[in-house]
Amino acid sequence: MKDFTFFKKQAEKFHLLRLYNFLKNIRETLIDWRLTEKKRQESILLSRRVGRLLVSHFTGDKSQLADDRKGFLGFGLIHYALIRNIKPKRVLCIGSKGGFIPAVCALACKDNHLGYVDFIDPGYGPEQPEDKYWGGTGFWREKDVAKHFSKLNLQDWLTHYLMTSAEFKKNYPQCLYDYIYVDGDHSYEGVKLDYNLFWPNLIEGGLMVFHDVIVKGFFEQGKCKYGVYKFWEELNNRHKITFPFPKNSGLGILQK
Ligand SMILES: C[S@@+](CC[C@H](N)C(=O)[O-])C[C@H]1O[C@@H](n2cnc3c(N)ncnc32)[C@H](O)[C@@H]1O
Repeated sequence: MKDFTFFKKQAEKFHLLRLYNFLKNIRETLIDWRLTEKKRQESILLSRRVGRLLVSHFTGDKSQLADDRKGFLGFGLIHYALIRNIKPKRVLCIGSKGGFIPAVCALACKDNHLGYVDFIDPGYGPEQPEDKYWGGTGFWREKDVAKHFSKLNLQDWLTHYLMTSAEFKKNYPQCLYDYIYVDGDHSYEGVKLDYNLFWPNLIEGGLMVFHDVIVKGFFEQGKCKYGVYKFWEELNNRHKITFPFPKNSGLGILQK
């Protein structure tokens, strides 16, 4: 993979950053048009430009198998494909660092011309007790959320709720969903609570999808113990599908 940091530094040094950005944009366009660097073009099905934007702007990461240089969506592809096929009327996303999976779900609804995403995150950051924030950066407290999602014109396809999943359930107990994504509180008690709270709100035949179903140990070498795997192992449900990769996360799918 080419590293252009050297050239960028030189451009900065000689006040040629605008020229550098101009040439960089030409190069990106040539790749998008498939006129150069064929290896960078993962797929003819999905636009690399949109993929890169989704991964970089909404901070998709390795735990989602996402790659911003290639514009590869990783697990985002699974969510996108499921939603395009199921055509849910209502999607619920619990927890996200920078909005990657909520954005993918909203994009799938937009492409379906059907559906809407409710996205819950209390905007926890490192100032929270260690057992609470699970990698949040305080992002959602500070962000103009509609503006953030307007990058891909997704602002009309989702609403963000600045609260915990338990608070959301208290405020909106009757909402029904066809697709629920759980990626908030990763403790055993936390994920079990989300399951117990929202399973009754999932329609018959709907899907509940869990991130981090195989990761074990402590979050960021701290005191917080990942508990999703334990919940997932205990769950006695014959419709359970497990994607045991990558080793630092994993994805679990459950049909009601
Ligand atoms: C950053 S995500 C976890 C990392 C994720 N697996 C990823 O791929 O980036 C966790 C998010 O869940 C949120 N969160 C924590 N507890 C929550 C709760 N009870 N309800 C909803 N969201 C919660 C945090 O604010 C944080 O933004």
